[in-house]
Amino acid sequence: MNQVSEFVNMGDFYERNEVAIAKIRGQLFGAPLAHIETYGCQMNEHDSEKLRAMLTDMGYGTAEGFEDADFILFNTCCVRENAELRVFGNLGRVKHLKKSRPDIMVAICGCMMQQPHIVEELKKNYPYVDLIFGTHNLHDFPVLLERTMSEQKQVVEVLKDGSEIVEGLPAIRERSAKGYVNINYGCNNFCTYCIVPYTRGRERSRTPDSVVAEVAALAAGGTKEVMLLGQNVNSYGKELGVSFADLIERIDKETGIQRIRFMTSHPKDISERLIDVMAASKHICRQLHLPVQSGSDRVLRLMNRGYSIAKYKAAVEYARKVIPDIAISTDIIVGFPGETQQDFEDTLALVREIDYDSAYTYIYSRRTGTPAAEFSNQVPEDVKSERLRQLVDEINAGVKLKMQKMLGSVQEVLVEAVSKRSESLFMGRTSGGITCTVPVNECSIGDIVKIKITKARHFSLHGEVIDKIIEGDMV
Ligand code: SAH
Ligand code: SF4
Ligand code: F3S
Repeated sequence: MNQVSEFVNMGDFYERNEVAIAKIRGQLFGAPLAHIETYGCQMNEHDSEKLRAMLTDMGYGTAEGFEDADFILFNTCCVRENAELRVFGNLGRVKHLKKSRPDIMVAICGCMMQQPHIVEELKKNYPYVDLIFGTHNLHDFPVLLERTMSEQKQVVEVLKDGSEIVEGLPAIRERSAKGYVNINYGCNNFCTYCIVPYTRGRERSRTPDSVVAEVAALAAGGTKEVMLLGQNVNSYGKELGVSFADLIERIDKETGIQRIRFMTSHPKDISERLIDVMAASKHICRQLHLPVQSGSDRVLRLMNRGYSIAKYKAAVEYARKVIPDIAISTDIIVGFPGETQQDFEDTLALVREIDYDSAYTYIYSRRTGTPAAEFSNQVPEDVKSERLRQLVDEINAGVKLKMQKMLGSVQEVLVEAVSKRSESLFMGRTSGGITCTVPVNECSIGDIVKIKITKARHFSLHGEVIDKIIEGDMV
């Protein structure tokens, strides 16, 4: 909350927000509670952490869920249709709640709001939504909320694009041991299936100094691990004349942070230098998320991905040569328009060959406004579902074997939180990103511990602490 950073190109936004926050504080009675419902990627999760900090400044406490909330905020995602359907489903629930408690305020923001047809739909059929704003004016949330309260009518403000980077927004991070840090925003790649370039605008990078300062401040405050966020971290700094490898090297050397992760890396921009910097560092985690999307060069061209399978394999090979214990994960889409049985089998073959440590798999979802939505040869739903089933089986079989192989090994784990499995277990992650549980009486949240793996589950591990590397001093 007290984070001090520079403000870039933001004129009097800070002052406007302060005035709005003070006005809202003056209007709130009792101890109102706010609930944020977040959908989508880490970028959105981190945006919600910033929105939570603004709500706290305004005087709102945290609600347990919809039912006890006085203010409900939806931070939405539209990368696939099911994310949108979930938002509309929950808006229906809120309509119900508002019947018995008309004083509840409802706001909606995030990627879905950057699509004009969605905003039209909300204006027409969801009059009980009090405030609608987008991804490019998140920092103006207090001003917009104050306006909604004083005008007593639906306020809609969505900007088409954002070129500014707003520095200095506070964030209340969910877990004290870990923190998200944005490094670049937006995307210029225009993969033909993807809505993100339309919802998040053009690529723009924070300056290395602001990123380094934020990470150093987090480390000084007790954070042990940062996750550097960007739609394509490897294209960081192009407009500033610096590379992602330069940035991460500085973070490694200058901030005092114990662990560094990043996502997402785009295979077309991955450099050997980045892998070399990772290999030379004690703090950069041994994990590379490298979404391949398809194992067929033909489909990759149709997707506008900008690399071939040969180039992808060479990148993985180099990474494994230089960092033998590196965990490689990926994203794959099945049923892209025109994907043939042969293309799909090429994907299966690639998955077998690469032997991923984990993979996110998706059925292609048609997104209004993207080029692929207009392609004529859409794959039938039943074919897509069958391909997904086969792919998931293939991946799971490989992952299970990898987990078994880790039995008896020694891993370094950052203890993050109490495990959802049991109160007597903490959960944390290995350097490669695998979820691990450990007994609560052996360590504390925030510790980085060496553990010996004693149990392998399907997708996670369990171990016993054999050595503490850093004492936990938080929570
Ligand atoms: N910037 C990241 C990913 C952002 S979206 C990257 O390029 O890797 C996360 C994942 O969602 C993508 O990697 C892709 O696998 C999936 N995805 C994006 N659009 C999709 C769509 N229309 N249908 C199905 N999956 C999609
Ligand atoms: Fe979407 Fe492609 Fe950009 Fe990733 S790189 S956000 S998949 S357009
Ligand atoms: Fe979704 Fe927006 Fe992230 S569309 S995946 S929340 S950038």
